[in-house]
Amino acid sequence: MATLDLTFTPCPDGPLALPAATCAHVWQIDLEVARDAMLSASENAHAKAMRHLEKQSHYIATRSALRLILSKYVGGTPEHLPLAIARQGKPFLDMAGAPQFNVTHARGKALIAVAQVAVGIDLEFARPVRQLDRLVENYFARAEEKALTALPDDQRAQAFLAAWTRKEACLKATGEGIAGGLHRYHVTLRADEHAQLISIDGNETAASAWTLHAFRAFGGGQAAICAEAPTLALQGFAL
Ligand SMILES: CC(C)(COP(=O)(O)OP(=O)(O)OC[C@H]1O[C@@H](n2cnc3c(N)ncnc32)[C@H](O)[C@@H]1OP(=O)(O)O)[C@@H](O)C(=O)NCCC(=O)NCCS
Repeated sequence: MATLDLTFTPCPDGPLALPAATCAHVWQIDLEVARDAMLSASENAHAKAMRHLEKQSHYIATRSALRLILSKYVGGTPEHLPLAIARQGKPFLDMAGAPQFNVTHARGKALIAVAQVAVGIDLEFARPVRQLDRLVENYFARAEEKALTALPDDQRAQAFLAAWTRKEACLKATGEGIAGGLHRYHVTLRADEHAQLISIDGNETAASAWTLHAFRAFGGGQAAICAEAPTLALQGFAL
């Protein structure tokens, strides 16, 4: 199936073993559900300085969920886990043997991927895309532009969003972020194709070190996960 239907089972009580090297755990979190805040002192200060109340509440909910989830794998008090930020902005857990992870949030929902290898995740909800042609010209690989142009008009916005989500998941996996160049990552985009990273800078061998999956989340959400593994099984949990 081109887009996976992941099952999200309720959060298990107690500690969790790290996923196997060719598996990622995907956590889905509804940020509107009230939960205990579990922030570090600096995150608390950051949250307090936020003026936009909804953004503040989503920040607190996402960070608290992240800390709670990570503590299930590595133990310790969620508030005291040593979260750090790499040069290009990707958060990581600064301790030996820690899993790698990545976070995405949109419209009051969040997904967190946990793996033993580099991992990136992205979530987008269907929306009208303004200036689609310009975005495609600036951010898509030429082969993607060709594939998109060949589609009937009524399938293009959906395929654009699918590709965008997949490309962002790749750039978040490497830690480069969007600044790394969306056009360098050539992905599949048609609804009848499996999600796949075809090439990086035209290099198919480099791309084969990564696995990309597309899956549905929160009903209407389109999500993609990319990890540095030749194959990748997914296991879903709901917090
Ligand atoms: C990371 C990035 C891809 C986010 O895209 P988005 O679709 O808006 O947001 P998402 O919800 O999917 O992801 C946001 C999360 O990605 C994570 N993240 C941030 N930088 C990241 C990076 N370089 N690689 C991987 N993950 C990153 C963070 O956990 C962030 O959540 P937080 O802000 O609550 O801590 C994009 O903002 C980016 O490329 N940032 C890199 C730095 C950059 O280019 N900044 C521009 C400054 S002018």
